[in-house]
Amino acid sequence: MLEINNLHKSFGSKEVLKGINLKVNKGDIIGIIGPSGCGKSTLLRCINLLELPSEGNIIFDGNDIIHEKDKLAVRKNIGMVFQQFNLFNHLTVIDNIVLAPVMNKLMIKKEAEEKAIQLLKDINLEDVINNYPNQISGGQKQRVAIVRALMMNPKIMLFDEPTSALDPEMIGEVTNLMKKLVKDGMTMLIVSHELNFIKNFCNRVIFMDDGIIVEEGSSKEIFNNPKDERLKSFLDKINNK
Ligand SMILES: Nc1ncnc2c1ncn2[C@@H]1O[C@H](COP(=O)(O)OP(=O)(O)O)[C@@H](O)[C@H]1O
Ligand SMILES: [Mg+2]
Repeated sequence: MLEINNLHKSFGSKEVLKGINLKVNKGDIIGIIGPSGCGKSTLLRCINLLELPSEGNIIFDGNDIIHEKDKLAVRKNIGMVFQQFNLFNHLTVIDNIVLAPVMNKLMIKKEAEEKAIQLLKDINLEDVINNYPNQISGGQKQRVAIVRALMMNPKIMLFDEPTSALDPEMIGEVTNLMKKLVKDGMTMLIVSHELNFIKNFCNRVIFMDDGIIVEEGSSKEIFNNPKDERLKSFLDKINNK
């Protein structure tokens, strides 16, 4: 469903992605790990067209999306969730969720609100519908951010460190929602430093270092039988923290 070929991205003279190749099949749950600064966020941002790649292509459902003028059409299919939630603090939960579909004329307000309320009810968040972001917990904020992404019925969800900004006791409510999405058949790419979560949750894991994919394999292969020295030392460092 998604195919990334020879993807490069430079910021000025600094090359951050140095030729990424990756095939994502429907239903894949792919974990992306690697040291800070290796290009994980940049890769997700390129897939969501928040960054324009310097070279290569990204084929989504048969179309090269890099030069697609209608970025909105692409983002409808590829939802993204950020570490810092990126909710508007001056808007209530429901207004945050309906903003994009209504502003972009994809839904009328009433229809969007009905859908948002149903999605919030499904995850027991109906009580905070009219709260502002500063009136809800971090775990609730991140679940609202996920609901916002789900409004467009995306085919893939990209998660960039979705639990890194959360207090430990709130991580579970976000990962439980992610588990529910998997059950419903969602395809996911997840960047996370929570290696245990990645190990148990993902069917494939990618280790990146310095702008390239160094090693790729099943969860078992990557965590129990790492081959590349860079992956071994990365796992050692994290395990000995
Ligand atoms: N908009 C930008 N302008 C310049 N450099 C950037 C920009 N975004 C990221 N970088 C640089 O690209 C490198 C990779 O960043 P990033 O993709 O955020 O890494 P990771 O998510 O793996 O920690 C870093 O050196 C970072 O400073
Ligand atoms: Mg990052």
